[in-house]
Parts: sequence; C-alpha cells; structure tokens
Amino acid sequence: EKGGYEHFMLKEIHEQPKAYRDTMRGRMNAEGNKVILPELNLTEEQIKNIRNIQVVACGTAYNAGLVGRNLIESLVRIPVENDIASEYRYRSPIVTPETLVIVVSQSGETADTLAALREGQANGAHVLAITNVVGSSIAREADSVLVTLAGPEIAVASTKAYTSQLIAFTLLGLYLAEVRGTQSESEVTKILAAMQSLPEQVEVILGQRDAIKAYAEQIAEHKHLFFIGRGVDYAVAQEGSLKLKEISYIHSEAYAAGELKHGTLALIEEGVPVIALATQESVLEKTVSNIKEVKARGAHVMAITHEEHKTDLLRSVDQVFVIPQTLPLLTAALSVVTLQLLAYYASLALGHDVDKPRNLAKSVTVE
Ligand code: M6R
Repeated sequence: EKGGYEHFMLKEIHEQPKAYRDTMRGRMNAEGNKVILPELNLTEEQIKNIRNIQVVACGTAYNAGLVGRNLIESLVRIPVENDIASEYRYRSPIVTPETLVIVVSQSGETADTLAALREGQANGAHVLAITNVVGSSIAREADSVLVTLAGPEIAVASTKAYTSQLIAFTLLGLYLAEVRGTQSESEVTKILAAMQSLPEQVEVILGQRDAIKAYAEQIAEHKHLFFIGRGVDYAVAQEGSLKLKEISYIHSEAYAAGELKHGTLALIEEGVPVIALATQESVLEKTVSNIKEVKARGAHVMAITHEEHKTDLLRSVDQVFVIPQTLPLLTAALSVVTLQLLAYYASLALGHDVDKPRNLAKSVTVE
C-alpha cells in the first residue's frame, strides 16, 4: 500500500506531480487562457461585490492560506485576512454579506474549522471550502466547495494536500481576476502555462533527494534552527518550520527575514543552521542583506533560490538548493517540496516514526 516507499509521507511527497495535475484538470479551457470553476456557485454580481476575504484554517492548511492571501491580493486586489480557526470566532471577526469566507481543510473534519464555517454563515457570508474530502462535514455544510484532488493523505504530516491547496488558491485567484477584470488575458495565459509546467518541475526537485538527505543529516545534529524569507517565501518558511518540528522534533522558528534584527538575532550563534528562502527577485537584495546579518553571527546558511541567482548567492551562503524557473507568484509550489524532503530525512535520520509523529492525530475533531 506504500507503493514501494518506506513511508506514506515519502510516497505522498512523490505523488505531488499527479496531485497538481489532477487538481488542475478540467479547470482551464482548451486555449489555456481561462479558468473554469462552476463549483464556486457564485454569480458574477456576487463576485464583483466581494469586499474582503477571510481565510480560516488550522496548521498546514492555515499555512497554505498564507500563500493564498499573497496570490489573491496580487491577482485580484481584494484585501485578505488569514485567521487560525481556533481564534476566529473569539475575536469577533468583522463579517458582512460582502465577505467571502474561505475555509481550508484537508480532512474536512477539523472541529475548529467547521465552527469557523458556521460563524461565517451565521453572519451572512458565503463560505467556500477548499477540501480534499468530498463527503466531509465541511464539504457538506459549505456554500460551495473547491475540491483538491490530492488523493487520500495518510501520513500525519500534510504534504500533497498543502500543495494542492496552493493550486486551488491559484485557480481561484485567476477566476476571480477574470470576473473582476483585474488581469489581462495574456497575463492569465502566462500564469496558466507556468502552472502546467509545475508537475515536471516538482520531479526535478524530487531528483535532488540525495543532496537534500545529506543536508538533513547535518541539521539533524542541531537543537534549533531558523527559516527566513520575505513575502511568499516567509509563508513557505512557516510551513517548512512546522513540517520539521512536527516530525523531527527539532525546534525551529520561521521569521520574516527583515524582522530578525528586531530581537531574535541574539539567538543566532556559531553554527546555527539558517534556511533562507530567496526566490523573490523583487526583494532578493534585501534578503541577501538579512543573510549577511546572520552570517556575521556565525550562522550556517542554506539558501533556496533559482539557478540564475545561485552563483551570486554562493558569495554569501554556505549551500544552495535550486528550484526550477517559474513565475514569482508560483514559487511556493516548488520551494516547499525541498522543505518537505528536508523534514522527512531529518526525521528519518533521528529514527522517529515519520508517519505517526508523537502526540499528533491526522484529524483533530475536538476544539
Ligand atoms: O484536515 P485539516 O487540513 O483541517 O487539518 C489541519 C491541521 O490539523 C493539519 O494541517 C496539521 O497541521 C498537519 N498535521 C500538518 O502537517
């Protein structure tokens, strides 16, 4: 049942190219210039009337929502807030009938997320669920459902569900952009074409597994480490950090790269591993300055970037992992795969139960 893989997690990491394809299939037209999402169940008028979006979820699904915010705000220019589902109800969120609430849940059974869905509906919002399980409680109660087609996810650590959620957010962003006229047809065409290259680009990263494993064995000897990044790289840093903590039990923190010097820099000592996500050309120079700040304190820095920046970055970091060239908007769907493999191999090196990490359940049905 593990299809020849040692663990479900590794199998599911390798199933991502298929999960991307399945989640995209049938959701764009033959010309590749339009997204088709009848399941959204929203009229043109309703879409044009959306004033704000709230993305509510837990754990990895919350982290996917952070990338989702970046996508939707860039593509559609609607303000998006991210909420942790267990916090949402208790902060008296400002929800109106012009609010679109998006709940994200792999299982569709997370109690806090279900409660958030009901809170949104009680306030008159349309609630859209992004879920991997069609018959789940969340899918049944939501006003519309955008299904991710990742296939069953068995490992407690979510991998292919997260990346499929990123695909779903991208399709959603493009669709809303079409209706609201915020992106030109040529821009949409370009993004859709880049999306279609993602599955084979993931394969390229999977091909780096031996090098990632060797690096994971190195970090497995440490007690603390840091992930840094800006913009969408910061969102991915948060997921990378969660994945690592969850299954390797190594303590890590994800920091917005520019924020370290506002307190946390004191924790960077000789030899502390820092993983710097540096895929965003527009802020690359700034990220490099932040890398220099940690290097000056003795950090051992690994950077994730595009091939074209590798040589440059190697002047300031100790090691680089490269992701294939894609649009800045889509890098998360690639860079996170490196971090998933890293967490997997670190857990393996430490001899932990990768698929069933201690103290965690696959589906959390208590609040
Ligand atoms: O099924 P859900 O997506 O609602 O689950 C939410 C979280 O419990 C889940 O993502 C959790 O953080 C994973 N174990 C992370 O790998």
